[in-house]
Amino acid sequence: MLLNAEKCWLPFLSDHCPRTFSPVEEARVELEEMGANARLQVEESMQDAYRIEKDGEGYVIYGGEKGVLYGAYQLLEKMYLGQCPCCGETKPAYGLRMLNHWDNMNGQIERGYAGNSFFFKDSRFCWEEERIRFYGRMLASCGINAISMNNVNVHYPADRLCTEELLPEVKKIADVFRAYGVRLIISVDYALPVTLGLDTADPLDERVQAFWEKQVDLIYSYVPDLCGFLVKADSEFRPGPYMYKRNHAEGANLLARALKPHGGVLIWRCFVYNCRQDWRDHSIDRPKAAYENYAHLDGQFEDNVILQVKNGPYDFQVREPVSPLLYAMPKTCKSIEFQLAQEYTGQQIDLYYMAPVWHEVMDQLPALPLHIAAVTNLGNDENWTGHTLAQANLYAYGRMAWQGKGFDGVQVLKDWIGLTFGPDFTERDRLESMMLSSRSTYEKYTANLGLGWMVTPHSHYGPDAEGYEYDFWGTYHRANCRFVGIDRSDKGTGYIQQYPEELARLYNDPATCPEKMLLFFHRMPYDYVMKDGRTMLQRLYDDHFEGLAEAEKLLEDWQAMEHALPEKDYLHGLARFQQQVKNARNWCDRMNTYFYRFTLIPDARGRRIYD
Ligand code: GCU
Repeated sequence: MLLNAEKCWLPFLSDHCPRTFSPVEEARVELEEMGANARLQVEESMQDAYRIEKDGEGYVIYGGEKGVLYGAYQLLEKMYLGQCPCCGETKPAYGLRMLNHWDNMNGQIERGYAGNSFFFKDSRFCWEEERIRFYGRMLASCGINAISMNNVNVHYPADRLCTEELLPEVKKIADVFRAYGVRLIISVDYALPVTLGLDTADPLDERVQAFWEKQVDLIYSYVPDLCGFLVKADSEFRPGPYMYKRNHAEGANLLARALKPHGGVLIWRCFVYNCRQDWRDHSIDRPKAAYENYAHLDGQFEDNVILQVKNGPYDFQVREPVSPLLYAMPKTCKSIEFQLAQEYTGQQIDLYYMAPVWHEVMDQLPALPLHIAAVTNLGNDENWTGHTLAQANLYAYGRMAWQGKGFDGVQVLKDWIGLTFGPDFTERDRLESMMLSSRSTYEKYTANLGLGWMVTPHSHYGPDAEGYEYDFWGTYHRANCRFVGIDRSDKGTGYIQQYPEELARLYNDPATCPEKMLLFFHRMPYDYVMKDGRTMLQRLYDDHFEGLAEAEKLLEDWQAMEHALPEKDYLHGLARFQQQVKNARNWCDRMNTYFYRFTLIPDARGRRIYD
């Protein structure tokens, strides 16, 4: 099913260009239709960068081969929005601006909330060229330049994507994306040599090395500009070098060396932890895992290895501190991984605009990693992202990956609203404020003060305070009748010591630790007095009540916008906001009752807490 372009941020793209037109030619025709005469001046050395100038005859876009395409889309956007298009040279903050699909070849998407895959179905490729071309435009228009199509959990038959069996089809898709400056990444199974007949996948075994060299040569004969491999190894039951008592530098270098002669990179995920922990064992603290597995290997990786680190030390919770690994390993190339798929953040039902999270991370890191990746929130739903408003996260992610520290999440949101709902949309301000407050609202009714994981096990939507408490995933809060949270200070698990000294000092003391992360870093009594004089318990109660009230207000705001929205879009959103209110009520009541039953302390303001 082809999407309705009205619901995307590319309203100026029409379908009348002959298919033989290149994306740049297409963009030029669109510009002409908008009354702009634009000349494109390719200067190879500019690569992804571009510069838009104006002279007597119209606009000139200077840029590398990809740069002019980015520039042309930018000019189209600016004209449509009525903004000044001229700019000095602009170049991307991150080299690789990646999207990782978690699509399985059976068509389902791991943590997908917008339908099924638009690449695969029934264990084979299944894609429409028109949709993939449109997707290429969406990516190029916001500067994304690499994608992996298949899930990081690689199972049969996706493990064959890098074999003769499936490469012809990979090549066809790569050919479509290439025109939009998007390169493919393949998620590979570390144990492929064993699957295909060897008795080992040991990275130091010469037969294994020869296997990968041959395999990689074959891949590049089909896709000469493949970006590289993405690997989840020794993580959540995936095979990896630890099975052969090799460390992760030895493991990653095996593949990196095979890719290097072809200019490919090896993206190695650092999401490695003990997922069979005994909850009784307080000596293991999961957030410490990534640093413990990797920090000591700094300097040992090949120069085409990129370590991909999740933004926080746990797993995309509503609020986590920045992963300490992102401050470490100065000699190693890294990418930061975010999750646009709203696994823990409302599943594209509840509203959640992510820019505030990215700002927190970028403001805090002294130096940005070289590359960036995000798990996509896309599927084959007509509007791509389930909740139409969730599209903003994809668009803003691309912009953020381009602008880096200069990213302005408010301006980008304004642009997205203007592009998606049109210049005459009368409810711009209301929608903007709904989206800008959405993260804080969601945080209030779900996960306060850095408490995470109180979610329904497996699905991760809805509350379950002890759902993971006695499980083996290492995600505990250990609440009792007096305390909640984990002491990660130097007197506790010592996690805080993984940070640079100044930050470690800040976090170590509950009095200086940012309150929004208090219970992530510390185990605190319910009667601890917060900076504003409320007790910690009262703050938990208040947040849940406020979060629910704010969710109800979101629904009212949406209802107030009915007159300004096409009926179909309005009704689609309405059902989601109604569900969000139910979810918020469920969280509020269950969490408040959970803490009330432990403490028997009623709400200071006399609101009803169920017993
Ligand atoms: C989370 C998520 C999994 C995913 C994993 C990963 O744990 O729930 O579905 O596979 O992250 O990042 O690899």
